[in-house]
Formats: sequence, C-alpha cells, structure tokens
Amino acid sequence: MLRPLLLELAGSTRLRDWVTTNGAMRGWARRFVPGEDLAVAIEAAKACNLAGMSASLDHLGENVHTRDEAQKACASYLAVLDAITAAHLEANISLKLTQLGLDLGEEFCAGQLRRITRHAAELHNFVRVDMEGSAYTERTLRIVEHARTETDVVGTVIQSCLFRSEQDVRDLLGQGCRIRLVKGAYREPSHIAFPRKRDVDANYVQLMKILLPSGIYHALATHDPQMIEATTRFAAERQIAKDKFEFQMLYGIRTDLQSSLVREGYRVRVYIPFGSEWFPYFMRRLAERPANLLFFAKNLFR
Ligand code: FDA
Repeated sequence: MLRPLLLELAGSTRLRDWVTTNGAMRGWARRFVPGEDLAVAIEAAKACNLAGMSASLDHLGENVHTRDEAQKACASYLAVLDAITAAHLEANISLKLTQLGLDLGEEFCAGQLRRITRHAAELHNFVRVDMEGSAYTERTLRIVEHARTETDVVGTVIQSCLFRSEQDVRDLLGQGCRIRLVKGAYREPSHIAFPRKRDVDANYVQLMKILLPSGIYHALATHDPQMIEATTRFAAERQIAKDKFEFQMLYGIRTDLQSSLVREGYRVRVYIPFGSEWFPYFMRRLAERPANLLFFAKNLFR
C-alpha cells in the first residue's frame, strides 16, 4: 500500500521543495546519495575501486523541461567521462533519457545520447541507459538500438516486472546488447506488469537464465539474496565463469552483501548517484523498503 503512495509522491514538487531544503533530510539522503558535486562522486568511486568494486556514476536528473537543461545534462556527462579517465577509475556512467530531453522529442534526445556515446567510445568507456517508467520503454529501446548502430559501448536495462521483458531481452540479445537486469522501480498498471512480487522475482530468475548463457557481458542488479543465490547457482551449474557477468548494487544499500560477493570472487559494480536532483531517486529507495520510511519519519519530526 505504501509503495504506490511513495512512488506517486516522488512526482510532487511541493514535497520535493520541502524535503530538499530540510537539513536533517538532506543529511539522511547522504546514505543513498554521497553528495551533490562530481568531486564527491569521484571520491566515492575511488573508495569502491579500493574495495575491489567498479562503479557507475549517475548525475541525477530526469524529465527536464527545456533543451537548455538537456544540453547541460549532456555536457555534465561528458565531463563525468573525462573525470573518470583523469582519475584512472574503473567506472562507467548511467543516465536517464528523460534527463537528455526525451520529453522534448525523440530525435533531439537521440542526438544528445549520441554525443555521449561517441565520447565514451573515444575514451573506451561505457554508457548504461537506465530504464524509466513504461511510458518510455519503447522509445528508450529504439534510441539505444539507434545509438548502437554507431558504437557498441552502450547498453540498457530490462525490468522483470513487465510482461514484455522476455521479448525485449531476446530482441536486445539479437543486437548483441549488454543488459542490466532489474526488478523495476516504477509504479506500473496490472495489465502490463506483474502485480505480485513473487511473479516479478520468478521472472527475474527466468530472464537471468536467458541472459547468462548468451555469451554477452550482462549485469544482475539486485540486493535480493535469493536472486543472487539463484544466479550464482545457475552460473556454477552451467560453468559460466565469475568474470563473465557482474552484480550491481546501489550506493549505500547492502554494503555487507557487496563485500561478501567480492570476497567470493564475483564482480560487483556500485551505482553512485550524485547531484542536486536527488528527490525522486530518494523516494524510489524509500518505496523499496518500508523500514527506510520509519527512519525517514523519525528524522522528520526530530
Ligand atoms: P527487493 O526490492 O526485493 O529487495 C531485496 C532486499 O534488498 C531487501 O529485503 C533489502 O534487504 C534490500 N533492499 C532493497 N532495496 C532497498 C533499499 N531501498 N534500502 C535498503 N535495503 C534495500 N530500476 C529501474 O526501474 N530502472 C533502472 O534503470 C534501475 N537501475 C538500477 C541499477 C542498479 C545498480 C540497481 C541495484 C537497481 C536499479 N533499479 C532500477 C532498481 C530496481 O528496479 C529495484 O527497484 C531495486 O533494486 C530493489 O529491488 P531488489 O532487486 O534489490 O529487490
């Protein structure tokens, strides 16, 4: 019951303005977002590298309203790629197409993405296009496919909550595309998405079993020990080496699990978001775990 409410509130500008100007809340959000500046994100990525993990940097932002904002987001990602190279980090970038102006036109947005993927190709880096709500799925897949006609340093994300995902996985594998598999963080209607968590989980395992034997380097992004256990068991049964795929987790979540996977010899990448536009990201993290909400409420009334 809480999840749909929190996901709805993620779009509230009044709540955003209130939460993001509250000192206690800003401090607490640091658990999920290390800071607002690139320098802080670079330091967080360095710490991950030292702990044996790679990183993916996300300059937070989504649903921009003007071309100017989209172009600024594009420029900031070019700078992130340069900063990763300058710091010799084992890191790539993750971005959202609505931050690059998807709401302002598909062609415009595709052009912004191509500027970034070209620069990533020059620097031998990689761009992950995050998957947003289902209103954007079709366009995201189209834009990624188009970008991939020029370079293969771009991949995307598939959400196991959607009925369509198995077909999307097969189409993307046909293109040789690297996929990050997630459960899905958005509120979706029951005619297109599994309403029950156990079905989302079962589909996650089913899709993982299609991805791993494909010979393409994919990412299993989850903090769920059951999904992780299903993946490591399947990989062992099929004799798929530990360096042929990676686990991904969000900054600040299940750091114990991140470390234990590294100790077991698995590849782990930490998704590090930064920037001032952290409110919707933060609300999605609250929606995933009601226990976080209790903590949030305590801080609010302190
Ligand atoms: P699940 O929600 O079942 O949680 C399993 C366990 O993980 C919980 O019991 C708890 O221990 C821990 N946990 C999970 N979330 C937590 C939280 N917020 N705080 C504390 N503990 C938590 N989604 C999307 O739609 N598009 C995208 O592009 C991405 N990208 C992405 C990248 C990466 C690297 C990750 C890890 C996740 C995403 N997601 C995403 C989010 C994803 O869809 C999903 O909402 C979250 O990962 C939560 O689902 P889990 O698989 O972790 O399992």
